[in-house]
Amino acid sequence: MAKTVTVDTLRRMKTDGEKITALTAYDHSFAHLVDKAGVDVVLVGDSLGMVFRGEENTLNVTVEDVAYHTRAVKNGISRAFLVADMPFLSFQISEEETLQNAGTLIREGAQAVKLEGASKQVLLFTERLIETGVPVMGHVGLTPQSIHQLGGFKIQGKQLETAKKITRQAIDLQNAGAFAVVLECIPADLAGEITSILRIPTIGIGAGPDCDGQILVINDLLGLTSGFRPKFVKQYVDLGDIVEKAIKEYVSETQNGVFPNDSQTYKRSETGQKILVNRKERGE
Ligand code: KIV
Repeated sequence: MAKTVTVDTLRRMKTDGEKITALTAYDHSFAHLVDKAGVDVVLVGDSLGMVFRGEENTLNVTVEDVAYHTRAVKNGISRAFLVADMPFLSFQISEEETLQNAGTLIREGAQAVKLEGASKQVLLFTERLIETGVPVMGHVGLTPQSIHQLGGFKIQGKQLETAKKITRQAIDLQNAGAFAVVLECIPADLAGEITSILRIPTIGIGAGPDCDGQILVINDLLGLTSGFRPKFVKQYVDLGDIVEKAIKEYVSETQNGVFPNDSQTYKRSETGQKILVNRKERGE
């Protein structure tokens, strides 16, 4: 069996110039396939609110939701490094709540947690988590939990001022002890510069090819998301179409009596003997 991935593996991959692959997963079946396919990092993202539950944004996701999905995903993984997202308001209120919430996710099987943003408080809590033994992945650029402040799902860091701010945030997260940082929806050249400045790996989503690794939402990659698809997504298969065709065939075969056939049916060992039930036994 291939060696399991750790934070040290990810650091070494950056040093050796080996690209890191990451994907989200929300359930056991897909986690198993993602792991088997050789993905290095699996993220139980709070994107589950949107892709799994069909909500407009990620703000409604709770620690209990992420914990539930983390348990399912953990059971499907044997090699990949498992990261769980700290959802909105799970790491902003107090140090105590942050540690408790991270602890809940770690107990369910996560090996690290991801926090969005790099405010003073996030940096402080990142340090505390690391002191407690919980590895932290940072996340800057487009941070969906601040969607109302950002005014929508928009590319960040196009102007010099915001580009500098994002660079500073990534450096601060590294200095606070984060083992990696997600760069979401920023110009490729900015992501490349941040990647060359940092000692820790950058994992890009909509941040061009020069990051140390890439992450995508699994439903986007597999063609299971309906509606708007961001420019940065590459859909590798139209699983939505394949699944719909299979379900239509099942419906049609069931309606026409084609399913189940003999090979999908159990038989009694003694055949030919009718079960006789009298009127009393029938309750008539
Ligand atoms: O929640 C999520 O899936 C994420 C990735 C898009 C990085 O944060």
